[in-house]
Amino acid sequence: MTKPRIGVIIGSTREGRFAETPAHWVAEIAKARGDLDIEIVDLRDFPLPFFDELSSSLYSPSKSEVAQRWQKKVAGFDGFIITAAEYSRGPVAVLKNALDYAYTEWNRKPVAFVGYGGVGGARAVEQLRLNAIELQMAPIRNAVHITWGDFIQIKQHGKKLEEFEHLNQAANATVEELAWWAKVLKTARYNEAETAQAA
Ligand SMILES: Cc1cc2nc3c(=O)[nH]c(=O)nc-3n(C[C@H](O)[C@H](O)[C@H](O)COP(=O)(O)O)c2cc1C
Repeated sequence: MTKPRIGVIIGSTREGRFAETPAHWVAEIAKARGDLDIEIVDLRDFPLPFFDELSSSLYSPSKSEVAQRWQKKVAGFDGFIITAAEYSRGPVAVLKNALDYAYTEWNRKPVAFVGYGGVGGARAVEQLRLNAIELQMAPIRNAVHITWGDFIQIKQHGKKLEEFEHLNQAANATVEELAWWAKVLKTARYNEAETAQAA
């Protein structure tokens, strides 16, 4: 079986966003392992309207061309690492909207979060884990939380994420756990498809 394909989603689209910094950092850590196929996915490349379909794509196909393109992109992955900023103690609206714009494409795949902000994005990450359950994903326990002190050192004093040993450790542990789930669930989905084909 081929390596699990992991999408690293840049979960904020605003000008001057921080999101791409942790996305590229965690993508490099994941790539260095050699057992995962890593691709960065930028929500700016999928300018989805605020959800404007008859229903969830579980029940009816989406009309929006961007939504169809987004669903195809999500379908190609076996797991996800998503950056999670906190806006007003919750997830970034464009990210939640992007989650809502697919359904089956998320199912039975693991997801991990890299949070940042006052409390390391923890409140957004907790909410996103609940959203992920509704999408029949497997949100993993490990996460990276870049808390305020480190966040300011990076944003205002030019420090690099790579320079924080505790964050490197958290990222490695998170990717390790995600990789385990991605491999197990990819195998299970594959076996199920094979059995269904043989029947
Ligand atoms: C609308 C808005 C609301 C915010 N609310 C919170 C918050 O509730 N908690 C927090 O820790 N940071 C909050 N922040 C600060 C963000 O953590 C910080 O701006 C971060 O860089 C946002 O991520 P981004 O740059 O990738 O968009 C907020 C920022 C914005 C723009």
